[in-house]
Amino acid sequence: MPNKTAASLNANRSSLVHKVRYALRNPGKVVPYVRRSARDWKLRMTHRDHVDYYRAVMASDAARDPRAAVGSQSEERWLALGRMQFDYLVEHGLEPGHRMLDIGCGNLRAGWRLIDYLDEGGYYGIDISPDILIAAKGVLAERGLQSKLPHLTITRDLTFSFLPEGRFDVVHAHSVFSHSPIEVIDEALANVGRILAPGGFFDFTFDRTEGEEHQVLREDFYYRTGTLVALAEKHGLDARFMDDWEERPHGQSKIRVTVRAPDNGAD
Ligand SMILES: C[S@@+](CC[C@H](N)C(=O)[O-])C[C@H]1O[C@@H](n2cnc3c(N)ncnc32)[C@H](O)[C@@H]1O
Repeated sequence: MPNKTAASLNANRSSLVHKVRYALRNPGKVVPYVRRSARDWKLRMTHRDHVDYYRAVMASDAARDPRAAVGSQSEERWLALGRMQFDYLVEHGLEPGHRMLDIGCGNLRAGWRLIDYLDEGGYYGIDISPDILIAAKGVLAERGLQSKLPHLTITRDLTFSFLPEGRFDVVHAHSVFSHSPIEVIDEALANVGRILAPGGFFDFTFDRTEGEEHQVLREDFYYRTGTLVALAEKHGLDARFMDDWEERPHGQSKIRVTVRAPDNGAD
């Protein structure tokens, strides 16, 4: 079965009709959804800024289960989702000598494989959640990867202002913009060009809609491809929809961004 059907790409999950139909098809999910809505409402009341709010969501989720907090309901899925990201990057240009920035690295679902593959110090993970970074350090130790000396750092924005210019061959954000309002994505796209090395690329996934753009509980955000491509172009970047990612068993889509070559005026 394809991961994305016309119906799923056109659904507006924020609409009442969609919610009622979904509830009728999945009665067992109603109580957990109501609980989550109530928790999120409370967190939104006490954290007005999106990043503060989402950090509180991660703290609550990670306290229950760090694997579920990054979106994997079992160890098997956690391993499979990490492998999928890793394989795709290696098949699409990542090399052991590269320096890589993993935005929203979570508890190293893909990160531990990337750390293992890259040369010492080649991996730099950032996240807004201290709780998930603590879990990440646990995974690093469990996997015996201490000698690779990755950087794992907290951030509150995506200006990358503390990172050096032209540093990273690869920048990566898996399942981060699917939880981000457009201002957060805009900030990342406005600033990523400065830290990309010549020839470098930035791959990110997003929840794609072909219908109306919408969000659910300020946790999940659905964008049209054209919106994100236009945003990248506004910041002097070229953006390419990665068709072959669609063949992988994953609900999100992927875009690769590169710095646009200067126009030298030649005909
Ligand atoms: C669904 S998890 C995915 C984690 C990891 N990329 C993976 O695939 O396993 C999303 C992660 O992004 C982090 N995150 C969300 N918004 C962020 C932002 N604006 N900047 C950095 N990290 C963010 C969350 O704290 C969380 O760890």
